[in-house]
Amino acid sequence: MENFELYKYKVVQKINFLSLEEREKILENAGYNVFNISSKYITVDLLTDSGTNTISDLQLSMMMLFDESYAGAESFERFLQSAKDFCNKRFIVPVHQGRAAEKILAEIFCSKGSIVLSNTHFDTGFAIYKYKESIPVNIPTPFYGDEAFLFKGNIDLDKLESFLKNENVSHVVMTITNNALGGQPVDLENVAQAYELTKKYGKPFIIDGCRIAENAILYKKYRGVNKSIKEIIHSYTHYCDIFYMSTKKDGIAHMGGFIALDDEKFLPKIRQLAILFEGFPSYGGLSGKDMEIIAQGLREVLDEDYLNDRINQVSFLGNLLDRIGVPVIKPFGGHAVFVDAQKFIEHIKPEDYVAQSLVVELYRRGGIRAVEVGYLMYGKDAIRNLVRLAIPRRTYTYSHLQFVAKIFEEIKENKDELDGFEVVSADPLVPHFTAILRPKRRSNIERS
Ligand SMILES: Cc1ncc(COP(=O)(O)O)c(C=O)c1O
Repeated sequence: MENFELYKYKVVQKINFLSLEEREKILENAGYNVFNISSKYITVDLLTDSGTNTISDLQLSMMMLFDESYAGAESFERFLQSAKDFCNKRFIVPVHQGRAAEKILAEIFCSKGSIVLSNTHFDTGFAIYKYKESIPVNIPTPFYGDEAFLFKGNIDLDKLESFLKNENVSHVVMTITNNALGGQPVDLENVAQAYELTKKYGKPFIIDGCRIAENAILYKKYRGVNKSIKEIIHSYTHYCDIFYMSTKKDGIAHMGGFIALDDEKFLPKIRQLAILFEGFPSYGGLSGKDMEIIAQGLREVLDEDYLNDRINQVSFLGNLLDRIGVPVIKPFGGHAVFVDAQKFIEHIKPEDYVAQSLVVELYRRGGIRAVEVGYLMYGKDAIRNLVRLAIPRRTYTYSHLQFVAKIFEEIKENKDELDGFEVVSADPLVPHFTAILRPKRRSNIERS
């Protein structure tokens, strides 16, 4: 149903609304990095959809059945069954979150100077591969800029073949949906072809499927296929050697993840590293309570009423922004609206952190927390300078989203007054999480 949440509240959390002066002080103390702001000072938190989900009454009830045994816990058995059913793979290794899976897989596949290809790596994988002295390379579809093209999450198959033929590629990671490029869906045909090509050159093909259910509903809508969400997910996971996901997204959970595979070849090494870094393979860094929430969440996410409501919320916000003239990536993706900050605020250069300037202004004017996906996150590897407004699952209402659009309207009126930023300090591998910034006032630039 149009603009109607298919859930009602049983538990609520108070939202605080501070004054402009209070928020300006908070920003200054946070080094203009919204990761450093306490959530009690946030009005609408669109920083991430990861682990910020509202759980259902059924998830809460299942959680009470928790079994915290170190080995052979019943909670693990329920988790295992649900994860297998979700992705249709024989073996499941639990991990505490997505990046733990990335770390284990990087340990196995990466070697110094090897290239890791992707339709677009997300920040954690990107940083982990660099840490392992591999070279993460993004090869998104060349049709990315074409508004009418529906599968902007795709990989560039020509470039994929050229890299596989000519370079030292360790493995290929398909991110579904493509988070860093707008939560855009990946077409099944593209995955199948990328998989076949990668196999031709004898390399492992891995799916990062933390939003694969959102991908499935978009695929169903665009292709008009008459299949259930589970069947669609299984058609995607058919084309990979290894599937992993952070269940903080489409697991509708607060924590967790898993690695899944059919082939026994990689299993012993994955299990060994999971024991070293995560915990015994029947809990993998997760409590029984987490595993129960995930087991139930992986079933609820297959419900088309839920998924339609989810993508409807995203397009509702996207359309509001589009209507007031804020440049947004279209069609809208599965979990977030992405604003093209460079197009919106033309006078600030990418290297003066134009997207971060918009992130700061959203907080300053409305207490809205968003995240920069651009020069601060990826440096000169940034493909675009975007601001991601990620919508937590089942958490905000349409009126919260209307409030966000109202703040954008105010910003649009005054956007020519915005300044760029400079970085005072930042960790080189994960700059956006750690950066301390200061405004680069235009009066200063003119003087220097
Ligand atoms: C596409 C993608 N892969 C991997 C991760 C990492 O997952 P986690 O935050 O659970 O470590 C994220 C997190 O946002 C993501 O969006």
